[in-house]
Amino acid sequence: MAKVAVIAGDGIGPEVIHEGMRVLKALDEVHQLGLSFEEMDLGAERYLRDGTTLPPETMDRFRDEFDAIFLGALGDKRVPSNVHAKDILLGCRFQLDLYVNFRPVKLLDKRRCPLKYKGPRDIDMVVFRENTEGLYTGVGGQFKRDTPDEVAIEAELNTRKGVERIIRAAFEHAKQHGLPSVCMADKSNAMRHGHDLWQRTFHAVAEEFSGIEAFHLYVDVLAMEMVRAPERFDVIVTNNLFGDIVTDLGAQLQGGIGLAASGNIHPGAVSLFEPVHGSAPDIAGKGIANPLATHLSAGMMLSHLGHPELEKKIQGGVRKCLLNNQVTKELGGKLSTKAVTDALMVHLGVA
Ligand code: NAD
Ligand code: IPM
Ligand code: MN
Repeated sequence: MAKVAVIAGDGIGPEVIHEGMRVLKALDEVHQLGLSFEEMDLGAERYLRDGTTLPPETMDRFRDEFDAIFLGALGDKRVPSNVHAKDILLGCRFQLDLYVNFRPVKLLDKRRCPLKYKGPRDIDMVVFRENTEGLYTGVGGQFKRDTPDEVAIEAELNTRKGVERIIRAAFEHAKQHGLPSVCMADKSNAMRHGHDLWQRTFHAVAEEFSGIEAFHLYVDVLAMEMVRAPERFDVIVTNNLFGDIVTDLGAQLQGGIGLAASGNIHPGAVSLFEPVHGSAPDIAGKGIANPLATHLSAGMMLSHLGHPELEKKIQGGVRKCLLNNQVTKELGGKLSTKAVTDALMVHLGVA
């Protein structure tokens, strides 16, 4: 038995989540997983209707009643401040202490790779993005706003505990999966305080994992190396903002933003699964959003709920969609969001 809260969200969010739910419900029926779903009325529509972003009672329910949260995307031009997205998405990440943002970069189909001479063996890494601190906490302030002397400070928060646990999670993952290396990326050549903490913590934790190669790159070089020689990377660990940026880069290496999945995880507790992409207002409502990132995220969620074999199965099905060119327009295909999912369900044997 597992209880899943569903936040469809804005833009293409509801479109991809609808398809994700079709697959999850079909798998639930065939494999008797005992899943139950509750759709939450949260997102831009709700905010515009009654000003609610994420009520504290709902956060308590997420923590106490649910095993996972399945989210589409949040972001709507009618809410220029993006306050609802910050409250809901960052609210879950911070208040549920989802400190691991787990973002695999795995090329499933050679032809989808934008890099010459690189293939699935070269592009197979996972990014451990710190998810509860860094430049995302809102610590800072504005002074003399809307005057010529305006000042704005955005402070980067780094705690020993926060840095250590994400670095440790990266090494533990490498150890569990027999991966040879962990790369830590920071900007300690310019940021002398917080990133010095990352340096010292990385070296201390690495010593506990003697069989794993621990190496460091400045984040600008990491961006370059992910393109020049992606085969260098097995596990990458980095801070919140850098992790956000390099995983969009990683998304392209694996074939596009419509294929990148993520898990916002607190090991052993309620965790949130979502595609890496946003609400894509430019294509919303057209039925052409790529649902595969959502399906891969659903697979990750099933693994979190104790069904790792189903994550593998979904990954295999997605690979078949890619190989058969059963894909949406942005990947050169002709299929709709729904038709891609229909094809996936045939591959999964749940059509
Ligand atoms: P975006 O990821 O929504 O879109 C970037 C580009 O990728 C667009 O051209 C879009 O059409 C394309 N794209 C994205 N997902 C796609 C898919 N599944 N299939 C096909 N094409 C896809 O990024 P953005 O435009 O910077 O952001 C739009 C809104 O989404 C903003 O409000 C942003 O804050 C928000 N956002 C939310 C999340 C989230 O909720 N997790 C993540 C990123 C961005
Ligand atoms: C992501 C998104 C979010 C982030 C935004 C919507 C706040 O880009 O999940 O990658 O920066 O973390
Ligand atoms: Mn992002």
